[in-house]
Amino acid sequence: MFITFEGGEGSGKSTAIKKIVETLQKEGYEVVLTREPGGTPISEEIRNVILDKKNTNMDPRTEALLYAASRRQHIVEKIIPALKEGKIVLCDRYLDSSLAYQGGARGLGVDKILEVNQYATDGFEPDLTLLFDIEPEKGLARIAANAGREVNRLDLEKIQFHHDVRNAFLGLAKRFPQRYFIVDASKSIEEVFNQAMNEIERRLHK
Ligand code: TYD
Repeated sequence: MFITFEGGEGSGKSTAIKKIVETLQKEGYEVVLTREPGGTPISEEIRNVILDKKNTNMDPRTEALLYAASRRQHIVEKIIPALKEGKIVLCDRYLDSSLAYQGGARGLGVDKILEVNQYATDGFEPDLTLLFDIEPEKGLARIAANAGREVNRLDLEKIQFHHDVRNAFLGLAKRFPQRYFIVDASKSIEEVFNQAMNEIERRLHK
């Protein structure tokens, strides 16, 4: 089973993922936790180029192609081999982040980004995509309150950008209802975890 975690900044996604990994491992599942952009040495190098604060003049299409390139390496080198070994793969962000950020918020168009990524993914899709949905104002306030987290270039973008990301994700949830599940991420850490975990259990036992 391939599960992806999506959402805006400060949605509590990373905290929930950690608890989900622990829970699944206790239940006896073999779990691989990974992230995008990144997940393999080559993909992590591409990540550094994309997220480097020096690279604010990066062209939006360059950025979209780098995400897709990083994803290709990740799928081939890590995700597919782990699934073949019968492991559950949990991925912190995947294709839908490109669709929402580059396609929606950056204005390149969701269909265009889907097309670009088709070459990278060969149509390989998650079984379940958990969308951690929260109002951008609330998410960004959480980040500011959490001094331990590094602020990256994208966090600094205007608030409208984050609204565009959110709306794009909600549009994707409507477009791909069979694999999407929306978590109300404005709730407490415990409740957010429970919503996500219950849905994973439901799908595992189907
Ligand atoms: P990261 O620090 O991992 O963010 P988070 O903790 O919120 O997951 O940085 C990843 C950033 O990259 C995040 O702002 C979303 C963005 N992103 C894209 O724009 N497109 C993509 O395809 C992916 C995977 C991420």
